[in-house]
Amino acid sequence: MTVLLDRPIVPSPASALVCRNCGAQFPLGAQHACFECFGPLEIGYDPAALARVTREEIEAGPHSLWRYAGLLPVGQDPSTRVDSGTGMTPLIRADRLADELGFTAPVWIKDDSANPTHSFKDRVVSVAITAARELGFERIACASTGNLANSVAAHAARVGMPSIVFIPADLEPAKIVQTAIYGGTLVGVEGSYDDVNRLCSELAETDEFESTGFVNVNVRPYYAEGSKTLGFEVAEQLGWRTPAQVVAPMASGSLLTKVLKSFKELIAAGLVPTAADGLPVMFGAQSAGCSPIATAFANGWDEVRPVKPTGIAKSLNIGSPADGPYALDAVRTTGGSMAAVDDDEIRAGIRLLARTTGVFAETAGGVTVAVLRKLAEAGEIDTSRETVVYNTGEGLKTIDAVSEGAVPTAIIPPTLKGMREAGLL
Ligand SMILES: Cc1ncc(COP(=O)(O)O)c(C=O)c1O
Ligand SMILES: [Zn+2]
Repeated sequence: MTVLLDRPIVPSPASALVCRNCGAQFPLGAQHACFECFGPLEIGYDPAALARVTREEIEAGPHSLWRYAGLLPVGQDPSTRVDSGTGMTPLIRADRLADELGFTAPVWIKDDSANPTHSFKDRVVSVAITAARELGFERIACASTGNLANSVAAHAARVGMPSIVFIPADLEPAKIVQTAIYGGTLVGVEGSYDDVNRLCSELAETDEFESTGFVNVNVRPYYAEGSKTLGFEVAEQLGWRTPAQVVAPMASGSLLTKVLKSFKELIAAGLVPTAADGLPVMFGAQSAGCSPIATAFANGWDEVRPVKPTGIAKSLNIGSPADGPYALDAVRTTGGSMAAVDDDEIRAGIRLLARTTGVFAETAGGVTVAVLRKLAEAGEIDTSRETVVYNTGEGLKTIDAVSEGAVPTAIIPPTLKGMREAGLL
């Protein structure tokens, strides 16, 4: 296990690394598994420090996720931040989508394709690389289903850190190009994401990688905290309150888990009131080609059984999801639900979102919107309650998924006659 350097971390509201399994506590540092039970660790905070953060302080902060530094484990000193302007993405009121799906309450799209490398991964990477630098790592690495690769390579280039990024070799061409272009080392692995992740876990233990921080392996407790800003922003953009229902995509299950954690922390810190109807109800979305968490939910299992992923939603293709049990717990304890959608439903979800809101989502967004539709049709989500739907990535990255049929209505000579003959005049 990598244990790095004696360098003190800049003072922050984070107080310890806490085992999510047995509750054991460890000093903050580059540790990701419990020495007692090998369970995953997450950041624990000093509640008094969180309670000192005010709305006014946040509102006076930068127009980026770093306005929430007081609620994050790193970045309190602005000079330490890795800042590409990530965050404060649009929260779009999607009335036409709501109408089409029979919602009588507002539906909002939180559009994280607006981030610098066009996915929500810029959030986790901003926090992870800031932490990696504070922890003394000299090189940055990750195992990725695509979007993380884009973001790690870009942020490493921005701050001049060497990077080594590992991906399944058969990713979408746009995600390969958008990683390679930034100039780091890019390794295509002949295997699934789960194979890539296993390789990275082994590499992280080698002497050669001792000063390399894998953002989602040995820096994972810090990395995962970045997803909380998806919840913080929604609450602030709604006028400092939580939404009634949330629909989020799941790969490892981390994002969904952390969005709920963010709402709980805002309430505990007194930054938003406890809603009369309780915590937001969480809904999880997967593709049918890789639905280990949704399958466990449907069967009432406590454990998540690994699967071999298939299908077009490659960014969500994690067959053995590390945070699956926590996502199950988040959805069950809030009274939500999960569903999985097949490739045709995903394509229809992308088209539905595009034609009703003007947002072009990647396949992960198609999964989320298609699941929203499926839950609404099945009566499993309450269409009379305000709902926030996370679009976590950009359609241009997975253009092949919907390119069929997305062609000009007509090709004409540059004349009125041409328009007439095409039936357009
Ligand atoms: C676009 C997109 N959305 C959602 C996710 C899911 O994230 P998590 O692994 O935190 O569940 C990913 C993960 O790679 C992703 O790329
Ligand atoms: Zn433990």
